[in-house]
Amino acid sequence: MSEPRLTRLPSWQALQRHADAIGHKHLRELFAADPHRGEQLVAEEVGLYLDYSKQRVDADTLRLLRELAEACRLPQRIAAMFNGERINTTENRAVLHVALRAPAGEKILVDGRDVVADVHDVLDRMAAFSDRVRSGAWLGHGGRRIRNVVSIGIGGSDLGPVMAYEALRDYSRRDMTFRFVSNVDGTDFAEAVRDLDAAETLFIVCSKTFTTLETLANAHAARAWCLAALGDESAVAKHFVAVSTNAGEVTKFGIDTANMFGFWDWVGGRYSMDSAIGLSTMLAIGPEHFRAMLAGFHAMDEHFRHAPLERNLPALMGLLGIWNSNFLDAATVAVLPYEQYLKRFPAYLQQLTMESNGKRVTLDGSAVDYATGPIYWGEPGTNGQHSFYQLIHQGTRIVPCDFIGFGQPLNPLGDQHDLLMANLIAQGEALAFGKTADEVRAAGTDAALAPHRTFPGNRPSSTLLAKKLTPHTLGTLIALYEHSVFVQGVIWDIDSFDQWGVELGKQLAKTTIAELTAPDEPALAHDSSTNTLIRRYRQLRDS
Ligand code: F6P
Repeated sequence: MSEPRLTRLPSWQALQRHADAIGHKHLRELFAADPHRGEQLVAEEVGLYLDYSKQRVDADTLRLLRELAEACRLPQRIAAMFNGERINTTENRAVLHVALRAPAGEKILVDGRDVVADVHDVLDRMAAFSDRVRSGAWLGHGGRRIRNVVSIGIGGSDLGPVMAYEALRDYSRRDMTFRFVSNVDGTDFAEAVRDLDAAETLFIVCSKTFTTLETLANAHAARAWCLAALGDESAVAKHFVAVSTNAGEVTKFGIDTANMFGFWDWVGGRYSMDSAIGLSTMLAIGPEHFRAMLAGFHAMDEHFRHAPLERNLPALMGLLGIWNSNFLDAATVAVLPYEQYLKRFPAYLQQLTMESNGKRVTLDGSAVDYATGPIYWGEPGTNGQHSFYQLIHQGTRIVPCDFIGFGQPLNPLGDQHDLLMANLIAQGEALAFGKTADEVRAAGTDAALAPHRTFPGNRPSSTLLAKKLTPHTLGTLIALYEHSVFVQGVIWDIDSFDQWGVELGKQLAKTTIAELTAPDEPALAHDSSTNTLIRRYRQLRDS
């Protein structure tokens, strides 16, 4: 183990000095110094327009960030990922979600095997299955057609499918019902199925490992619910399919591998929504739209792989995030889609970003001496404006914001889309420029109230615009964030593709389950808080 090298790089130290110099420059000054800033600090690629002129950067910042990226060998690391090298070093795995959207005929080799051909075999099986279910050719046990699809999974086997279903609802089959069950809290399952008819319901059990406690508990509950209604074990074959990398466990559960859609260990859970984990998405929107979404992902992949850093959207977004986190000390990022269909996008991004870059040691195991992954959160605008934006405008913390909006609404309603977008644009302006005490007083505000009504401004944001939310646009947008997470992981020199941090809680829960369910009060050897909580819970439960 050695000292982490990042903060000793000349480009890092140059950025540090630069931050000391530019750090207190207000966005008002930066805009005044360059009247064309808002036309220049923008990039438009693969249908996405990124305005980063309201970030607290100038041309030197951007140059130094690119130098940092070169010093961290970002171009080489991008090539290594696309070439299938085992860049997930702690799990000794390749990281090839980009292969999931590579067009048929392209070749990516893992251990000498062309994985793109495997991807397309599974995609074709998914499409054939989706067509059968959607057309009514696939019948339930009693001969009725499938009208309800319940996807069971958690983490990466849930957040992507839920987000994509919500995002693409406008393109979905409205005569079918789609539900998602993730929580081991029985309420999640109970509420998902309470008004469904088992004879018309298909369960998709999604789990990369097929050993995840929550998913297996819900899958067993689903099987019991189904059999209670349909009365026959043979119903499982018609009402359950599995998505997994683990054929052995799928068979053990009782699902025939003929009804299993596979994926591979080189697909990380949080990067899997465009693999067979997206089966519910395909059932909802159809194979053609699903393939359009994959084409959107691929367009961004190609852009990321080939575009120079100056106009490379994921690189720009990733590096701006480094600037905000490491040089302006911002601890969080708010993602604010002005599109109701993207309501689950921030939740999806939380796993993508925080499970990927919530790490504290470098690839060689040394403790970092700099901040890594920020906290992602958010809500659709305009709702957030009436809740937490107050803190973003006038609180004491810097919260960089990503605003996301579209030119054309999917549900035009009078002038409401213009109202929505006026709000998006106005928020970025208000955050950047604020309102000075002089302006407040000049507007006739009482002197005592002026401090309360003053907006400091200088709060950074980026704005992403696209023409319309389509399956293709969604693919480009997700790939943009996937790759910007990768860019940051490369700079921080961490493994963005493992998730050891979720293990300890899982292990302790196993011991605790045994203690909660023991018939007599068990001997407890935890700390005094944990011991007391276990006793108190047992008392409350049994009272
Ligand atoms: O607990 C974290 C995690 O391993 C995630 O990375 C993953 O997306 C999720 O659990 C679900 O795992 P699986 O698909 O194997 O059920």
